[in-house]
Amino acid sequence: MIIAVDGPSGSGKSSTARGVASRLGLRYLDTGATYRAVTWSALDRGLDLDDTAAVAQRARELELEISTDPDHQFVIADGTDVTAAIREPRISEVVSKIATNLDVRKELIRRQRAVIDAAQEAGEPSGGIVVEGRDIATVVATDAELKVLLTADQEARMARRGAELGSVTAEQLRDQIVRRDADDATVSEFQVASDGAVTVDSTYMTLDEVVEVISRLALESVAQG
Ligand code: DC
Repeated sequence: MIIAVDGPSGSGKSSTARGVASRLGLRYLDTGATYRAVTWSALDRGLDLDDTAAVAQRARELELEISTDPDHQFVIADGTDVTAAIREPRISEVVSKIATNLDVRKELIRRQRAVIDAAQEAGEPSGGIVVEGRDIATVVATDAELKVLLTADQEARMARRGAELGSVTAEQLRDQIVRRDADDATVSEFQVASDGAVTVDSTYMTLDEVVEVISRLALESVAQG
């Protein structure tokens, strides 16, 4: 089974998707990490991020290993463990440049689908995967059994990002969230409600509650399936 979890930054989708996978004994794929890894590599090579052909070439050549264990996440790019590095602000600040490069998207979607196929083939009880991103239900895995669009109002998303980032001002945070929403909105398939998607508004819910709701929906969709 495939569970797609899409949503904007700060909606809590990473913790939620990981929590659901862990609870249901499924694999987990953080597709945002693939865009972050290409960004890390392009910067590491000193590429001009506006040189879309060079960046796309880097995406195709990058050797990428990404963990699908929800309880032990790591990302290895060309033999270097970049698990922590891809979360640094210097990556977050420019990653949408890489994510709006259509040739990079084409390559990473191909790789994401390969990871999803491998998880499906793993068989029960682990023959399923929770895939987290922006375009999972609409592009990457349109055949997902459960499609969740996770939302939260802007204030709640700011508060969550603030808790993650530590010492940044409210203004800096608002800038980041608003700018990243705007940058990300330039890819047309993002966060449009796809056919059959369930919208879960997490503004007034705890993480445990959101995990509970989505896990229940997943079990229901299996029972109906
Ligand atoms: O979810 P995140 O912050 O790790 O995502 C990093 C960037 O990648 C962000 O700009 C959105 C983009 N992204 C994407 O374009 N498609 C996805 N499926 C996942 C993330």
